[in-house]
Amino acid sequence: MMAFDQAQFEEILKEFTIDAERLREIAANFRQDLKLGLENVDACSLRMLKSYVGLPTGKEKGEYLALDFGGTNVRVLRIRLEGAGKYEVVKKVGKPLIVEGEYDYVGAGSTADQMFGFLADLIDEAVDGDHETPYLLGHTFSFPSEQTDLYNAKLIIWTKEFATAGVEGKVVNDLLKEALARKGITNVTPTAVINDTVAVLLSAGYQTGDTYIGSIYATGHNTCYLEPYADSGEEPMILNMESGGFNKLAPNRFDQEFDKRSEKPGEQRLEKMVSGRYMGELFGMALAELLGEKGKEYGFTAIDMSDIILDGSEAGDKIAEMVKAKTGKELDAKACAQVKELASALVKRSARLVTATFVGTLWQQAGKGKLKKQHIAVDGSVYEKMPLAKDNIHLALSELLGEEAAQVDTILDNGGSGLGAAIAAAMSQK
Ligand code: BGC
Repeated sequence: MMAFDQAQFEEILKEFTIDAERLREIAANFRQDLKLGLENVDACSLRMLKSYVGLPTGKEKGEYLALDFGGTNVRVLRIRLEGAGKYEVVKKVGKPLIVEGEYDYVGAGSTADQMFGFLADLIDEAVDGDHETPYLLGHTFSFPSEQTDLYNAKLIIWTKEFATAGVEGKVVNDLLKEALARKGITNVTPTAVINDTVAVLLSAGYQTGDTYIGSIYATGHNTCYLEPYADSGEEPMILNMESGGFNKLAPNRFDQEFDKRSEKPGEQRLEKMVSGRYMGELFGMALAELLGEKGKEYGFTAIDMSDIILDGSEAGDKIAEMVKAKTGKELDAKACAQVKELASALVKRSARLVTATFVGTLWQQAGKGKLKKQHIAVDGSVYEKMPLAKDNIHLALSELLGEEAAQVDTILDNGGSGLGAAIAAAMSQK
């Protein structure tokens, strides 16, 4: 039975702790970056990408196709918008982008043609092979893309460790259109591309209202908001901040080391500290030090961390079992409790950092005035399912906003990525 070195454990835990003062500083840095970015995007670590769409009225109607592409699972939905914030999913199909031993459309060995061919096949399934009825398709494409209008979105750079060749720098809807044409599906017209954060905000705007910030807290992380362009006379537009790239943070040595060995070093620094794709690996790195095996990789995932945190047994039975299976080491009860503490600290840090960016955005929105009463719409597995995530967001909101925290709540916008794409397709017809 193995125990941890107490001093080493405390030191590591401290490295994953962000106190109130530091958190406030990070929120202020975020606001500053946002402000800079509105004037000169090269001066900040956000991308501030234009979406060419504002908020919906809630009255949008009609049947549309929605392609939701951005994580390990791709979905295509046929959605009927009924107006008055109501909708119905008529059909839904979905497939993973990787099936181990069978296919892989996201690895460096895969090509754009293969990836988009796979998407076209899924679209074919969603229309039941009907090549007659015309459909407009909204495409939620959850990667940083440079847009010139609602249709034209060029992938700037892959994130979330995607590496498919021949997509970076391309107009993604052109790739999709070509793939559809190759398969004879000419009745489906891609008409709008939006980021998943934008989709979530559109979906919350359609159904709930009073929402100006949309966020994804899942495999990846990012936030968008409605920029009022108050003094310029321009129409309000949703800006995709690509906040996952925010870098005025306090990365610890694990973050630094992990970034170096990632697919895109230097990029997505916030995302690598908070999102589901990376949390398990950071946790594994810290655990390896505690187990005296620095540098060893065990393959822990965010789901493993969730299981660890949820283990309520006194002796940490499930934790012991999991650690044994992944690392070969047998831990005593105290070490199991410490493993749980470590996982909890990582989740807490993640939620606090995400909240700091929400608050930076709210501060910028309020300017010198008071906060507007509102919801922040969030979708994603970490927000929805990771124990401690929501609680720590709420705690950090209170910590940073004090009494004004009563003005703001976060709402789960489950499935917003799909619905938002259909709404964008409807809005493209204006
Ligand atoms: C992408 C964003 C996306 C986020 C959530 C990030 O890796 O850069 O565009 O919104 O993941 O899916």
